[in-house]
Amino acid sequence: MTGCERPADADPRRSGAPKVPDATTQKIILDCDPGHDDAVAILLAHGNPTIELLAVTTVVGNQTLPKVTRNALAVARIAGITGVPFAAGADRPLLREIEVAPEIHGESGLDGPMLPEPSFGLDERHAVDLIIDTVMAHEAGTVTIVPTAGLTNIALAVRKEPRIVERVKQVVLMGGGVHVGNWSPVAEFNIVIDPEAADIVFRAGWDVVMVGLDLTHQALATPEVAARIAAVGTGPAAFVGELLEFFGKAYEDAQGFDAPPVHDPCAVAYVIDPTIVRAVRMPIAIETTGTHTLGMTVADLRGPAPEDCRTSAAMELDHGRFWDLVVDALERIGETPDTGWSPRAAARAVESADTTVTPEA
Ligand code: BDR
Ligand code: CA
Repeated sequence: MTGCERPADADPRRSGAPKVPDATTQKIILDCDPGHDDAVAILLAHGNPTIELLAVTTVVGNQTLPKVTRNALAVARIAGITGVPFAAGADRPLLREIEVAPEIHGESGLDGPMLPEPSFGLDERHAVDLIIDTVMAHEAGTVTIVPTAGLTNIALAVRKEPRIVERVKQVVLMGGGVHVGNWSPVAEFNIVIDPEAADIVFRAGWDVVMVGLDLTHQALATPEVAARIAAVGTGPAAFVGELLEFFGKAYEDAQGFDAPPVHDPCAVAYVIDPTIVRAVRMPIAIETTGTHTLGMTVADLRGPAPEDCRTSAAMELDHGRFWDLVVDALERIGETPDTGWSPRAAARAVESADTTVTPEA
C-alpha cells in the first residue's frame, strides 16, 4: 500500500459492509452461463447496494454446464460472495443439440484470467427447483428473474411450477434483438440455442423485458471504460480488466468490434435503474421453425402495442451512467479476502521468481 491510499475501511463505499434491504431493494435471481459478460453481471449484482442477490443458477450456454458452473463459483470467490445459493441446472437445451461459444468465451468459457478454485460448493437442488423455491418463498411481485443465458432453466421452471408466473415481478433477460442478430443475421445466441425454451418464456404471460442486442451493442467497453476500471485498483477490478482484454480480442477477431459489447450486466442495470435504458413495449414472438430465421425475436412495430402486451424491448442505453454503475459496484466490493486469485502480471512475477536459477556459491 502506498502512503496515499486510504485503508480499506476508511471509505464506506469500499467497506464491504452487508447490504441492508429497504423499500428500494430489488430481489433478483440471476440465471447465467459465465461467460465474460455474465461474470461482470454477477459482480454488478453483488456490488450494487439496491440489489439483493437471492440465488445464482447456471445453465449450458457459452460452455458446457460443468464449465460455466465452475466459472460462476470462481467468480463468486473473487467477488467475495457468501451466503448466496448457487445451483447448476440444465445441461442441454429442451430439444436441440448443445451449441457453445468458444470463439467468444474460449475453451473454459472464461478464458483470460487464471481462475481460483471455488471456495464453496453448490446448493444440492437442481437450479429449476432453486428458482421455484425462491420465487414461492417470497411475497408475490417482489422477485425479478434475470436470465443472461439460454432460457432452458426458466422454461423448465414455468412448466414444473406454473404459479411462478403470477408471483414473479418481471423477467428482465439478456437476449434477442429487434433489428439485429449475432449468431445468425437475425438471431441472438441466448435465444437461438434454445428457441423452444425462449418461446415458452416469452408466451408465459408475465412481464418480459428483452434487453437485446439493439441495446447491448451500445454497452461497449471502450479504452476509456477499461481505464476507469483499472483505476479502481483492486483485485476484482483487475480481474474484470483481464476478462475484458480477452473478450475484446475475441469480439474483434470474431465479429469485427473495436471494443467488446458487454451484454449481460445491462439486464442487471435495468433492474437497478430503468431510467438508464429506454424500453419500448411491443409484441415479441420467437421464431422456432424458420429455415433462415430460427431464434429470431420477431418484434411487431406496427403502431402502438395492444393494451395487454406484456413484452418490451430495450433500445437505448445511457452508456456513461451504465458504466458508472459497474465502476461503483467494483469500488463498493473493494478488496475481497481469500480470492485465491492474483492478477496475471503478479502471477507472472511469481512464476519467473520460482524458475530463476540461483547461482551456486
Ligand atoms: C449473449 O451470449 C453470450 O455469449 C453472452 O454471455 C451473452 O449472454 C450475447 O449474445
Ligand atoms: Ca451470458
